[in-house]
Amino acid sequence: MFLDKASQMTVQTESLSGIDIRAEIDRLRKDRNAVILAHYYQRPEIQDLADYIGDSLELSKKAAATDAEVIAFCGVKFMAETAKILSPEKTVILPDLDAGCSLEDSCPPEKFAQFRKANPDHIALTYINCSTEVKALSDIIVTSSSAETILAQIPKDQKIIFGPDRHLGGYLSRKFDREMLLWPGVCIVHEAFSETELLKLKAQNPGAPVAAHPECPPHIIDHADYVGSTSGILNFAKTFPGQTLIVATEPHIIHQMELALPDKVFIGAPGADGQCACNICPYMALNTLEKLYLALRDLKPQIEIEEGLRLQAKKSLDRMLEMAGGTVGKGDLGAR
Ligand code: 13P
Ligand code: SF4
Repeated sequence: MFLDKASQMTVQTESLSGIDIRAEIDRLRKDRNAVILAHYYQRPEIQDLADYIGDSLELSKKAAATDAEVIAFCGVKFMAETAKILSPEKTVILPDLDAGCSLEDSCPPEKFAQFRKANPDHIALTYINCSTEVKALSDIIVTSSSAETILAQIPKDQKIIFGPDRHLGGYLSRKFDREMLLWPGVCIVHEAFSETELLKLKAQNPGAPVAAHPECPPHIIDHADYVGSTSGILNFAKTFPGQTLIVATEPHIIHQMELALPDKVFIGAPGADGQCACNICPYMALNTLEKLYLALRDLKPQIEIEEGLRLQAKKSLDRMLEMAGGTVGKGDLGAR
């Protein structure tokens, strides 16, 4: 069971003026023997002080391997839960417990259990962006950087349920020419890119390639020169020969691109009216430096998972880690 959220409501309304938040975070991470893990979609100021930045698979591996006593997870709840599933002896804190995910919300465990029951001859290959309960109901977890490697190992005649992201599932299904039963979830951030605005942007930047995350719908993927996970997109940004890159994923990743390649130009793909902030993940944005400081100071909000549920969910994550093999760091679904 997760800790009661109300009881974890700390002093976030207290005044933090006069406190050097960055220095305090540094002091606390040493005092607490804590490691700060951050996803590429975090605010730049959080990325800048993290010990490790990565995609979902890389951060899972880091969480499993660290000898720190505390993991401060700057990402969303399913990522912090994954860290706790893999490292139950560690204290795992998430700066804001409301940092959820639209894909997780789209897939209530009881409905997923019914779906599985209705398709008993299918295995459940499930995207890591889901609850611990759904992981416990799944056979193998995948991330966007491990999905292809894992799918390639599943016999052709094995029927598959893929959830909860229908766009990632559809992309894999088209690329592998393999039918899968898709759960109808979407990422609200990637769903918001506009094809019309993307085509206008391409016309304004002739020759600029488009790098897209596979959570994008097909009408965006169809215009992409490269499709991959966040770390795959970052690798592509570091190696593409041109001067300008159009980036169709959550725009906070552009911070790492600009740090690595200050002379190149990275443009976030536009949303519906060409200027909305609808491609900023509202869940990831809930984490702030102030909340990270409070979480390290008070060691809450903490992730707690009931042991039977954790062990059940760990099976499908372990399968992923075994089957993903050397894909960590590559982050690559590859060119289309
Ligand atoms: P990756 O970093 O694994 O590509 O995942 C993207 C994402 O949406 C995380 O929520
Ligand atoms: Fe979920 Fe999309 Fe936000 Fe990732 S970007 S956490 S998939 S809502």
